[in-house]
Amino acid sequence: MGRVNGFSALSVLSSLLLLSSVVLLANATTHYHDFVIQETKVTKLCKTQTVMTVNGQLPGPTLEVNNGDSLVINVVNRAKENVTIHWHGVRQITTAWADGPEFITQCPIRPGGSYTYRFKITGQEGTLWWHAHSSWVRATVYGALVIRPKEGDSYPFPKPKRDSVVILGEWWNANPLAVIREAMRTGGAPNISDAYTINGQPGDLYNCSSKETVIVPVDSGETNLIRVINAALNQQLFFTIANHKLTVVGADASYVKPFTTNVLMLGPGQTTDVLITADQPPARYYIAARAYASGQGAPFDNTTTTAILEYKSAPCPAKGIASKPAMPPLPAFNDTATATAFTTSFRSPKKVQVPTDIDENLFITAGLGINQCPRGAPASTCQAPNNTRFTASMNNVSFVLPSNFSLLQAHHHGVPGVFTTDFPAKPPVAFDYTGNVSRSLWQPIRGTKVYKLKYGAKVQIVLQGTSIFTAENHPIHLHGYDFYILAEGFGNFNPATDTSKFNLVDPPLRNTVSLPVQGWAVIRFVADNPGVWIMHCHLDVHIGWGLATVFIVDNGVGEMETLQQPPADLPVC
Ligand code: C2O
Repeated sequence: MGRVNGFSALSVLSSLLLLSSVVLLANATTHYHDFVIQETKVTKLCKTQTVMTVNGQLPGPTLEVNNGDSLVINVVNRAKENVTIHWHGVRQITTAWADGPEFITQCPIRPGGSYTYRFKITGQEGTLWWHAHSSWVRATVYGALVIRPKEGDSYPFPKPKRDSVVILGEWWNANPLAVIREAMRTGGAPNISDAYTINGQPGDLYNCSSKETVIVPVDSGETNLIRVINAALNQQLFFTIANHKLTVVGADASYVKPFTTNVLMLGPGQTTDVLITADQPPARYYIAARAYASGQGAPFDNTTTTAILEYKSAPCPAKGIASKPAMPPLPAFNDTATATAFTTSFRSPKKVQVPTDIDENLFITAGLGINQCPRGAPASTCQAPNNTRFTASMNNVSFVLPSNFSLLQAHHHGVPGVFTTDFPAKPPVAFDYTGNVSRSLWQPIRGTKVYKLKYGAKVQIVLQGTSIFTAENHPIHLHGYDFYILAEGFGNFNPATDTSKFNLVDPPLRNTVSLPVQGWAVIRFVADNPGVWIMHCHLDVHIGWGLATVFIVDNGVGEMETLQQPPADLPVC
C-alpha cells in the first residue's frame, strides 16, 4: 500500500507541476500589434486637417493586457515625419531599447522605416498609455494601455461591471508640427490649442462637434471603473462628472488607498482610475474637463470638453424626448487649492518599503528661462517678451538632444562626444527660487549633460520649481521607474523643517509628479533598472525648450540586472 501511495503521491505531484506550468504558459500571453503611422484627414471644429495617426484612428488603438504579459508592436512609418513610440509608465526592465524617446533610447523611425518594440509588463496594474515621443507628433499619436490583474488575480476592490477609457487630448486647427516649428523659429510661446477632447471628440460645447460627442454607458446600480488619462500636450486638466462621486483607486498603474472626490486634476502624462456608482436618476450627465492653469498671465486654452455619462434606461433623445445633460461645476482655472487638495490625497494602499539610507541626494530646480536675442538675429526670431527667446532648464542646464546617436547607443557602445556626465547634483548658484529672481539668473547654459547612477543606488530628488520669468505647475515624468512621492509644498524646500513632512509609511507610487506652482516635491526610487532614462516636464512646449535631464544607470550583476543587447532592427540616425 505504501508503495502505491508513494507512487500516486508522486504522480499527483508531477501532474500538479505539469498543470502549473501549463497554467503559467497560458497566463503569460504575448500580444502582437501592427501600428501603421500614416497621414490621415481629420475633421474637427468644422475644419479638416491632415495629421499623423496610428492605423487611421484618433485616438489610436487601446491595448488591453494582463499584468505579466508581453507586447510586440511593429511600428511602420508611412508618414512624412519622423516618429517613435513611448510606452508611458512601462518600467521596461532591462529593455530600455523599447522605451522610445527620440535620441534618448533610439534614433527616430524615418519615413518608410519600421521598428518592433518588444517588452513585458511586470508588476504594474491599472492604466498607462502610449504616445509618440518625437517633436509634437503625440498631439495625434496616442492611445490607452489597459493593464488588468493576472488571470486568477483580482482587483483590490469589488470587480467593476464595466470599464471605460476616458483619454483627454488637445486639438489645434492646424498641423501641430507646424505650430511647434513656428514657435521654435520665433522664440515665442506656441499658439494655444483650439479644443480639448475626450476620446478624440471635443463635445457639445464646440462648433460642429455635438453629433460625435462621446457616450459613456452605465446601468442603474452598477459600479464602473473609469480610466482617465491626460494625453493633452501642454495643459493640466480638472476632470469631473455631474452629480456623481469619484472614488480614486489607482494612478499611473499603481493602486492607491481609495478616496472620494468630486474633481480630479491630472497633469499631462498622469492617469487616474476611478470607480463611479450609477446611483442617480436614470438620465444623461456631462463628463467635463478644462484647464488648471497656474502660470500667472500665461495664455491658455480656456475651453471645456465634454462627454456624456448615459444611463441605459435614460429617456432616449432619438425618441424625441429632449434631455439636456446636467453640467457639473468645475473649479476656477487658477484653483491651486483644489489641485493641491487632490494631489495630496494619494496614499499607497498599505505600508510600503520606502528607500532609506539615501546614496544620491539630488536637488533639482525646474522652470523657464529667457535667452537674450543672439547678436544679429532678426527681431522675428526673438518674439518672447523684450526681444528674447524662451528657454527652460533643470539646474540651469537647458537640455539639448543629440542628433547623430541616441544616448543609449552612445552609452552602450562607448561612443565618445555625444554627452557629458556633469549634470550637477544641485543648482550651480543657490537663490530664492520662488521669490523675485534676479535677471542675471534667467539665462541657462545649454548642454547634453547626464547624471550617472550606480545600479541599486537609493535616490532622493528634491524637485524645486522656480519663479524665473513665471512660476507654474510642472508635471515631471521619469522614464523607466515608478517613484514614491514623499511630500510636496510651496515656497523653497527647507531641509530643516520640511523633512519632517515626509511620508515614509504609505506614499503613493507614480511615474509623474505634479510639481506645485512656486513649490517643491520630493521623490525617491531605487536605481534598479539599467539604461538611459530621461526625466522631463510633460508639457511638450517645455521639453522643446530644454526642461529635461537624463540618468544613466549602470548594469548590476547577472542577466536580470543587465541591459539587453540592442534589437537588430533598432533605427540608426
Ligand atoms: Cu509620456 Cu517622456 O513621456
